[in-house]
Amino acid sequence: MLNDIQEVLYDAEQIQQKVKELGEQLSRDFNDRNPLVICILKGAFIFMADLVKNMDIPLELDFMAISSYGASTKSSGVVKIIKDLDTPVEGRDVLIVEDIIDSGLTLSYLIDVLERRNAKSVTVATLFDKPAGRTVDLEADYTGFTLPDAFVVGYGLDYAERYRNLPLIGILKPEVYSK
Ligand code: XMP
Ligand code: MG
Repeated sequence: MLNDIQEVLYDAEQIQQKVKELGEQLSRDFNDRNPLVICILKGAFIFMADLVKNMDIPLELDFMAISSYGASTKSSGVVKIIKDLDTPVEGRDVLIVEDIIDSGLTLSYLIDVLERRNAKSVTVATLFDKPAGRTVDLEADYTGFTLPDAFVVGYGLDYAERYRNLPLIGILKPEVYSK
């Protein structure tokens, strides 16, 4: 699997260190707020798991699945809820945990949905950001790493559902796409 990676952008140790810092910062900022932490499936599942292990405060978890790219590497611009939350968000401090922001379309749609459901506050933590891809005006409140405008895999992120289990984040070799 590692054979298919052209360049490692951040290795497992660098990611773990950053996630620890983010978790500690979020623990301070969400202390006594019992946040509803929402994992955006599937990409954010590893980040969410590592992040909440570094949050030493009371919190609740829920999961939401949103369609974005399918098997392609380009955003379709079509956003759809595949799996909705089990928990009402009304009056809650909501923390969205996202893997990566590219165009920003997915998140702007999601923030809109949660605000219309009367969340008390909506905060976004993303591990990765590709600001060059942005088509809507949106910034995360917490960002781990800013990445170049390349398609990346690992640490939850996939190409055609593979590579999610790599503990690092990297750029695929171009020949992998043409297989
Ligand atoms: P938008 O464009 O809506 O995209 O901000 C956010 C979602 O698109 C996926 N995405 C990626 N997935 N490698 C991936 O495996 C990437 O480089 C990449 N860029 C965006 C991701 O699911 C994210 O939630
Ligand atoms: Mg994907």
